[in-house]
Amino acid sequence: MSHAKASAAPESAGVVHNPLGLRGIDHLEFFVDDAERWANYYIENYGMYHRGYGDTSTGLNGRKAFIVGQGRVTFLFAQAEGKGPGADMIREFVAKHGNGVKDVAFRVRDTEAALQEAQRRGAKIVRPLDEHEIFIGGTIAAYGDVVHSFIQRKRHGTFAPGYENRAGGIEDGEIHFAMIDHVVANVERMEEWCGFYRDVFGFDQLAHFDINTGRSALMSKVMTDEDGYIKLPINEPSSKNSQIQEFLDEFKGPGVQHIALLTPNIIATTRAMREAGVEFLGVPDSYYDAEFDIRVGEIKEDKEVLKKLGILVDRDRPDGYLLQLFSQPVFDRPTLFHEVIQRHGNSDGFGEGNFRALFEAIEREQARRGTL
Ligand SMILES: [Fe+2]
Repeated sequence: MSHAKASAAPESAGVVHNPLGLRGIDHLEFFVDDAERWANYYIENYGMYHRGYGDTSTGLNGRKAFIVGQGRVTFLFAQAEGKGPGADMIREFVAKHGNGVKDVAFRVRDTEAALQEAQRRGAKIVRPLDEHEIFIGGTIAAYGDVVHSFIQRKRHGTFAPGYENRAGGIEDGEIHFAMIDHVVANVERMEEWCGFYRDVFGFDQLAHFDINTGRSALMSKVMTDEDGYIKLPINEPSSKNSQIQEFLDEFKGPGVQHIALLTPNIIATTRAMREAGVEFLGVPDSYYDAEFDIRVGEIKEDKEVLKKLGILVDRDRPDGYLLQLFSQPVFDRPTLFHEVIQRHGNSDGFGEGNFRALFEAIEREQARRGTL
């Protein structure tokens, strides 16, 4: 999937295009109990490559961190090390939430301008401007204990001050990821956070769903930047037994529910991930019944291969469709999981059709077994 370079559009009366000067997601930072273990987990299971390392010996305070990635996907895993406020913050986060995403960090044209404008639009600054030779950072608060850093890179160098580059090898494995497709938040009050991304970031609402399939009653709105680089669906539970409510209970508050990774080849990627031992959500065989052909129409992939690998399909456009599947939760608590997604044509949905299709497939299986 290629993207044209973002350029500043002329500003029409009252509407500011990309007010914070965002250029996309720079990286996701996880706070974890064991940074090396989880970096290795993503190297072994998600085909990522080791890209950087930092600890007190390289100039960091209160943390040990591993950076892994592939394509434009960059994950940083940080664990507490030693004493001090930085270490305490990681320890407190992990004690309360378990392992999870702390920072959805954006690349920006100008960090100082982004921080000032975000504050003027109502955001709370949690880390002020931090200027170095190659890197300028600064951070605002978001939902729960999650934050958004703004990162301006002046030239290519190391990831950030205090980190060393690590050569991760040639990126030629069977698991292919190009970029982060979307990052999903589970919150208690969806409207409040949609308002935050509208008012502070100037994002538009791309879509709205009300989904009620027994176990997964939820409301969801998708907030996106005008250029389509950044897609942030926001979910709110709409029943007590909702999977969103379960997340809020387990994570002890709002947080990142899933990170969708865009692949140009979901079949090869899924096959290699399954061989590596990644477990995905089960799909009943009945999902691929005649209803599948009616719903999805003509697709390039062989349905039997998709069925074998448990890959779901949703036609979200007359001239486009997506393929997707969902991992089991990554960490000890049933909180964060991943989606692997491939898009064809003008696909710009999130697989809404699959909620109903999966639910109905399960009902057909139950009916066949005579339990309904
Ligand atoms: Fe998703």
